[in-house]
Amino acid sequence: MSLWESILMRTEEPISLWERILLRAVVHPSGLLGRLGGIVMARTGRQMSERAVELLDVQPSDRVLEIGFGPGVGIQLLAKSVSSGSVAGIDLSEVMVEQAKARNAAGIRTGRVELRRGSAESLPYENATFDKAMAINSMHLWPDAVVGLQEIRRVVKPGGRLVLGFHLLKRSWTAEVREGVTEVLPAAGFTDARVVDVDEEEEFYVIAINPGDMDEAAI
Ligand SMILES: C[S@@+](CC[C@H](N)C(=O)[O-])C[C@H]1O[C@@H](n2cnc3c(N)ncnc32)[C@H](O)[C@@H]1O
Repeated sequence: MSLWESILMRTEEPISLWERILLRAVVHPSGLLGRLGGIVMARTGRQMSERAVELLDVQPSDRVLEIGFGPGVGIQLLAKSVSSGSVAGIDLSEVMVEQAKARNAAGIRTGRVELRRGSAESLPYENATFDKAMAINSMHLWPDAVVGLQEIRRVVKPGGRLVLGFHLLKRSWTAEVREGVTEVLPAAGFTDARVVDVDEEEEFYVIAINPGDMDEAAI
């Protein structure tokens, strides 16, 4: 079960009709509502993507992966930061892949950006492909966050950095994710986890390192 499902099962927060519609549009975007959700996320999520890219400390030659890229604003920012490197992205939603491909058409044409439909739990990349990875408002939606994070460890080089960002609709939900992240990151083998608060209850990021000392064959 995803962290998100367990939060929804236990939440005592009242959820208005408008909030329910918004959640349906952005949690697993599909159909017309998902397309609208993508438009909303592209407008409201830019600042979080900017912060995550900054925390990732992207170098010009880096190969970077974004998981759950949604409308592709983060991918666009990453592509601007890598002059000789490359950016790959994976998202479960067909409509988000479409929107992100349209937004990143120039980068895809030049071969600097590659976007695919797929899931965090089964990443279609070779071991140690990337220098860095990020996921914004996505990890809590993965059916098994530990498995998804282990997959990221597999495809990120030893010593590589992961940045996760979160800002949920309700403060109490963000707080629950915060607790969950501190459990799943070490369970997946990430070390040196450091929380960066923008607003302690509203929005936070976690930076963690792939120590690369796990038996790679076991991952
Ligand atoms: C709330 S949206 C965030 C989108 C974007 N990162 C942003 O901040 O604007 C969550 C995204 O994660 C994707 N997602 C959910 N579960 C996923 C999974 N298991 N693997 C990959 N992507 C997933 C969804 O399709 C959606 O695009």
